Amino acid sequence: MNILVTGGMGYIGSHTCLALYKAGFTPIIYDNLSNSSIKVLEQLKIIANHTFEFVEGDINDRDKLEATLNDYNIKAVFHFASLKAVGKSTEQPLRYYDNNVSGTVTLLTAMQKSAVKQIIFSSSATVYGDPQYLPIDEKHPITATNPYGWTKVMVEQILNDWCLANEQNLAIALRYFNPAGAHPSGLLGESPTGIPNNLMPYISQTAVGQREFVNIFGNDYDTEDGTGVRDYIHIMDLAEGHVAAFSTHQKDSGSLVYNLGTGKGYTVLEIITAFSSSANVEINYKFAPRRAGDIASNFANASLAQEKLGWKAKLNIKAMTDDTWRWQSKYPNGLED
Ligand code: NAD
Ligand code: UFG
Repeated sequence: MNILVTGGMGYIGSHTCLALYKAGFTPIIYDNLSNSSIKVLEQLKIIANHTFEFVEGDINDRDKLEATLNDYNIKAVFHFASLKAVGKSTEQPLRYYDNNVSGTVTLLTAMQKSAVKQIIFSSSATVYGDPQYLPIDEKHPITATNPYGWTKVMVEQILNDWCLANEQNLAIALRYFNPAGAHPSGLLGESPTGIPNNLMPYISQTAVGQREFVNIFGNDYDTEDGTGVRDYIHIMDLAEGHVAAFSTHQKDSGSLVYNLGTGKGYTVLEIITAFSSSANVEINYKFAPRRAGDIASNFANASLAQEKLGWKAKLNIKAMTDDTWRWQSKYPNGLED
C-alpha cells in the first residue's frame, strides 16, 4: 500500500518512512527540502537497502499534490510537513499559518479531490499549554501560547470538522512529547540549522565541541533539581507509534487523538549527565534565567496508546543519548558536510 509522507525528508518523517517500509507499506516522500537535505535519501537507501520514491514539492502546491496522489495511487497520508521553530513563529506568524494551516487545508483539498480519506497528523504536546495536571492525558483541555502551537490546535480542529463532514474520513492526530535520539546505525538523526533551540541537539553539539557550554534555562522550578522536566521519547519508538496507529485504525473512520510519550519525565541535569556518560566527555553548563514561555514539567499519560494501539515506548534515555552521540560524532555538521 502506497502512503504519501509529507515532510518525509525531515527528522521524524524519515525515521517513520523506515518503520513504514519495515511494516510492509510503501512510503512516497513529498518534501520541499526547506528544512532537510536531499542526502537523507542516500542514508535511507543504505539503512533499508531500498530506494525510496521522492517527489520534491510543497504542500501549498495543490496541482502537484493531486498529481502525486493520483500517479502513485496513494491510500493514506502521513503529514509531517510543517515549520516548527516556536520563537520564529512569534516573529513570522503569517508564514507559520500559511505553511502549517493553509498548507494542511490545501493537502486535505487535494486528498478530497483524489478520494484519499485517511491522514495521520503530527501534533504536539504543546497543545496542552501549561499543564493543569500531570501526567497529561488526551482529555486535558487544549490551548496554545504561540503561533506554532496555535497551528497545531487549528489543524486538529480542521481535521475534526473534515471527519464530521464525511463519515468515511479518518484523521489521527498524534501528540508527540519530546522526540529525541537517532537511528541506532548513526546514519540518520536530527541536524537543526543554526543554533539549536532544543535541548538534546544543543547538548550533543556541546559534546562534540561546537558549543562551549549548555545554558540551562532556570534552576528554580518546582522539580527534583530545579531544572525543567520533559518526557523524552526515542525517535524509533515514535516512528513505530505512527505505524501502530495507522495499522490499528486502517478500517476505521472519525477523528482520533493519541499521546505519544513514555510517561516518564527527566530533568535537564539528568539529560546532561546521561549524555556525558554516552559521549564519555564532560559537558559544561551554566545556569541561565528561565526561557520565556517554558513550563516546569510536562509528561504524558500514554496509556490510551498502549490500550488501543498496543504500542508502548521501549527505549530508555541511555538509548536516546547513545544513539544521538553516534549520529553526532559521525556527522558533526549534519549530512551537508
Ligand atoms: P523537520 O523540520 O525535521 O521536518 C519537517 C519536514 O517538512 C522538512 O523536511 C521540511 O523540509 C518539510 N516541509 C516544511 N514545510 C513544507 C512544505 N510547505 N511543503 C513540503 N515540505 C515541507 O521537523 P520534525 O522534527 O521532523 O517534525 C515533523 C513534524 O512533527 C512537524 O509537523 C512538527 O511540527 C511536529 N513535531 C515535532 C516535534 C519535535 O520536537 N521535533 C515535537 C512535536 C511535533
Ligand atoms: N533547555 C535548556 N537549554 C537549552 C534548551 C532547552 O535548559 O538550550 C530546557 C528547556 O528549558 C526545557 C527542556 O530543556 O526545560 C526541553 O526544552 P526543548 O526546547 O528541548 O523542548 P520543549 O519542551 O521546550 O519543546 C519541545 C518542542 C516543541 C513542542 C514541545 C512539546 O520544541 O515544539 O516540545 O512537544 F511543542
